[in-house]
Amino acid sequence: MQITVIGCGYVGLVTATCFAEMGNRVSCVDTSTQRINALQRGEAPIFEPGIEALITTNLRAGRLAFSTDTAGACSRAEVIFIAVGTPSAADGSADISQIVAVASELGRTLDQPAIVVCKSTAPVGTACRVQSVLDHQCQRRQVAWQHRVVSNPEFLKEGAAIDDFMRPDRVVLGTDDADAERVMRALYEPFVRNHDRILCMSRRAAEMTKYAANTFLATRISFINEIASLCEQLGVDVEEVRKGIGSDQRIGHHFIYAGCGYGGSCFPKDIRAMLQMAAQYDMPMPILHSVEARNQQQKTWPLRMLKRELGNLHGRTLAIWGLAFKPGTDDIRDAPSLVLLDALLAGGSSVQAFDPAASDNIAQRYPEAVKEGQLKLLQDPYAALNNADALVLLTEWKQFRQPDFHLVAQRLRTPLVIDGRNQYDPQTMASLGLRHVGVGRQV
Ligand code: UGA
Repeated sequence: MQITVIGCGYVGLVTATCFAEMGNRVSCVDTSTQRINALQRGEAPIFEPGIEALITTNLRAGRLAFSTDTAGACSRAEVIFIAVGTPSAADGSADISQIVAVASELGRTLDQPAIVVCKSTAPVGTACRVQSVLDHQCQRRQVAWQHRVVSNPEFLKEGAAIDDFMRPDRVVLGTDDADAERVMRALYEPFVRNHDRILCMSRRAAEMTKYAANTFLATRISFINEIASLCEQLGVDVEEVRKGIGSDQRIGHHFIYAGCGYGGSCFPKDIRAMLQMAAQYDMPMPILHSVEARNQQQKTWPLRMLKRELGNLHGRTLAIWGLAFKPGTDDIRDAPSLVLLDALLAGGSSVQAFDPAASDNIAQRYPEAVKEGQLKLLQDPYAALNNADALVLLTEWKQFRQPDFHLVAQRLRTPLVIDGRNQYDPQTMASLGLRHVGVGRQV
């Protein structure tokens, strides 16, 4: 199939490369010339394991092309994916102006009917809005055909996006047009072969499904974090409780890991957008308000523990392992590390941090602290520990799972480990003379 993907960001690139890998011919467009030039050389502007290999292979095979010319790239496309950004507006709602601008351009320039797919996460009603923008342009140009708009939200996790795309739990298609449904089913069939995993529904339901999925996952995390806080007070180990409830099939083991809060570009933004959608109908959503509030509070957990254990942090040196909002990415948007760094740097502590991928992004965010040496971003996790008063683990990169604890104990000035992702066994740590503080765990 001939496909065009508009937007070479995270969602667009993964979508484009995976469709190309399945044998489709995919054109990818973006307004940034710099980004397109890099992509043409096979360089990915995002950090995602495996993406560069997919880009290179498919570029070489002639199935993938990158350009800045939207009209040219769409001229022969049967299916056009809109995968542009929907950032939070000042009031928390999702700003869909980039989607509307693309729809308008497509309406003005397309010389054949196409299936236009809304891939970006956008509020309920966006696909209908795109349809009216396209219809309006078709009427103005007095063309005889109509474009068909489908909502097809993505469920990709950063760091595992290619695998999620290649082996989806489900594919959600929002359309009431039988022909568009047939084409979209054919496009996704290779990814869900032998499994009935394509769910067809209304466009509005597809849009709502995306928000409901993300906000539900965020709710699970805030729920377990709240239980963890009570466990801390009651002398209960939340890890035992997690296993105890997760083995109930109705609950399951996913997304009930207590930690120092969720971050990233999706959960916080989608909760804000959902609350904004509800506000338009004067509908209170107290559960979601609490999910967000609890998460804000949870992100202060590492700082609270440091203060509890060390008292005044002014003049102290703290080591941090992990700055990205989760492993497998360099993304620091809404990461718990930012809350801790803001407080430590403002409070006069020195920080020695290590992250396998996110250090450059952190350096860009705290240029002054880096320049003055208050924030040191190191290449070696153990170098970060030298003379530090505590080690704080914020992101559970695999390489932190089984560190050399003897070296950890040797290098730290105070043998204190604040384990914000419950990676370590308190007993093992105690046997090595390390004081371990986990989330909802017993010291
Ligand atoms: C999330 C969803 O999981 C994807 O399905 C969705 O497509 C994506 O948003 C999106 O809308 O684009 P992502 O933000 O990449 O994916 O990351 P997750 O793996 O979901 O993790 C989110 C945060 O929750 C991380 O900070 C992680 O550390 C935290 N988390 C996750 C916990 O604190 N506890 C858990 O049990 C699970």
